[in-house]
This record gives sequence, structure tokens and C-alpha cells, in this order.
Amino acid sequence: MKELEELKERIQKVVESYDSEEIGGWITGSGPIPCDILFVGEAPGKNEVEQGKPFVGMAGKTFESYLQSIGLSRDNVRITNTCFFRPIKKKVGKTGKVTISNRPPKVSEVELFREILDDEIALVNPRIIVTLGNIPLKRLTKFKNIGECHGELYFNEELKRYVFPMYHPSSLTYNRSDDFKSLYEKDWVKLKEALKTL
Ligand code: URA
Repeated sequence: MKELEELKERIQKVVESYDSEEIGGWITGSGPIPCDILFVGEAPGKNEVEQGKPFVGMAGKTFESYLQSIGLSRDNVRITNTCFFRPIKKKVGKTGKVTISNRPPKVSEVELFREILDDEIALVNPRIIVTLGNIPLKRLTKFKNIGECHGELYFNEELKRYVFPMYHPSSLTYNRSDDFKSLYEKDWVKLKEALKTL
């Protein structure tokens, strides 16, 4: 598809001209186009860059199992990110060993991809956009925090589409309480219900 190839070339151009920070590779979105359901994550990590696909690492496994729990699979949803490169930070240990880890993208880094993400959304033409975590939520809506809006369906006037904010799947790794797990699981059930109404 010509438009998809163009999106990829535009991402590559942004990445190649970005020299403010060292980054750890980049990817594009994946899944069918057009598609009724678009999930928007934060930014790829190491595994995603290695495999060239969003959500294939630890958070991705969690994401995929919940996706299956509501009768969906990667084949019938589009998955993309707010920032298309892997933001990294480097730490030098006492022995001089350098460790590289992920960091959240800065607002300025998210902005580099504003038009590209908008154009991907237009191309995918989803009936619903599911934001995963605070980064896509703040980029695409006026909500300030996932805690105030998760698990509900909103019609977004700016996007002219439904938006369903969810916690990022990796939040299950950070918050291991049973209460949070049950809240997170309920949000998936609510998403399943919301999809029936569209
Ligand atoms: N987390 C994200 O937000 N996006 C990915 O693609 C992978 C992990």
C-alpha cells in the first residue's frame, strides 16, 4: 500500500534527522488497514525494535492475552504507537558497564510524530481508538490522567471518533495488587461491551 510505505518513509526521515538524544531503533504500526479498532501505545521497547512490531515484549504478551480474552486477535486490530522510536537512557555502572533501558518519550519527541500519527489514524479510519496509558491519552485527548477516565467510552469531538482510555498493560507489572488487576480486567470486559455498541 502506497500510503503505508509513505508513512514508513516519513517515520524514517524523522528518526534520521533526530539528534537531540540517542535512540534505540524504530518501528511502524502493524495490523490491517482500514480497521475498526486501533490501539495506540506509548513507544516501542527493545523487543519491538528487534522484531519490527509493536507490543511483542513482556507488555505485549499481557496485551495479547487480554485481547484474546475478549475474542480479538492481532489479525483484527491495528496497533501503533505515539512515538515510533525507542527512547532510551544509558547508565554507567561502577565497573564502567553501560546499561540501556527504556524511558518514556518526552513531549517534544511525541510532537515529532504528531502529523504521522494523525495521518495513520486517518488511513486506518477506526471506529474506536483505544489509548494504552498516559502518553497516547494526553496526545489524543484533553484528559490529564488515565486514573480519571479509564474503562469508559467517550466520543472525541476533535477526532470525530470514539476513544476508550485504558491503562498501559505494563502497569500490571508495576502495580501487583489484586485490586488493580481486577480493575484492569474489568476495563477489558467494559471494552468488549463498548465494542458491541458501535
Ligand atoms: N509498549 C508500548 O507502549 N508500545 C509498544 O510497542 C511496546 C510496549
